[in-house]
Amino acid sequence: MEGPTLYAISDLHIAYAENREILEGIRPEHDGDWLIVAGDVGELFADVEWALGLLAGRFAKVIWAPGNHELWTPREDPVQLRGEARYRRLVEVCRGLGVVTPEDDYPVWTGRGGPVVVAPLFLLYDYSFRMPGLTTKEASLAHAYEVGVVCTDEILLHPDPYPSRDAWCRARVAETERRLAEVDPGLRTVLVNHFPLVREPTRVLRYPEFAQWCGTDLTADWHLRHRAAVAVYGHLHIPRTTWHDGVRFEEVSVGYPREWRWRSAPPGRLRRVLG
Ligand SMILES: [Fe+2]
Ligand SMILES: [Fe+2]
Repeated sequence: MEGPTLYAISDLHIAYAENREILEGIRPEHDGDWLIVAGDVGELFADVEWALGLLAGRFAKVIWAPGNHELWTPREDPVQLRGEARYRRLVEVCRGLGVVTPEDDYPVWTGRGGPVVVAPLFLLYDYSFRMPGLTTKEASLAHAYEVGVVCTDEILLHPDPYPSRDAWCRARVAETERRLAEVDPGLRTVLVNHFPLVREPTRVLRYPEFAQWCGTDLTADWHLRHRAAVAVYGHLHIPRTTWHDGVRFEEVSVGYPREWRWRSAPPGRLRRVLG
């Protein structure tokens, strides 16, 4: 019999009934399977807790990195925490469910393809993936408003207590760099972040202005520096496999029904990362 597999998925967006059905259909193939959930489970706090709890009850281990949507503070959510406080509460909920977060010790996958350190990261973005010719965040944002391509994060993702989302990003990058430096240098890694670590995957966005909400130049060499066997991300809603400097990058998103409806592959298939 086949051994266990390390799988990944992201952008479940379970506010949509069709996506909730996809989530309910997700099951391991083997008792020892692990599942990486790379963010954008949903927006409402209770939804995220329910979804991660369901998956944690089915998989041997669930590893979560937050997406921008989990960090929104929607008006209709009874949980009105913002920014860092919301993130910390999500981490507490995950710990209660046994789900691994970016604040926990990184687990080591010892199945086929291992041993590999699986590191969920929360790094956000800093508006450095700008349009060519635009040299500042301000110019980049102004252009986005002009053409009408503005991420809802600008309204619903509060950076409190940081002065801005990019300041929060820089703090996360510094803290995460410290954590990754502590990883056994003899082990390779699976780096999991909602946003791509490198800019290249954003070049195919239909609206290139959106790239500024998709990552940071500060992580451009992390897949090499931190010995990634695989980098897992989502957010772009463009599921595919690409290679950067010889490292496999997996965009593992489900996306919105209006997006997955047109794809040839059935929605919600788990991506095999290792094993
Ligand atoms: Fe998403
Ligand atoms: Fe996202």
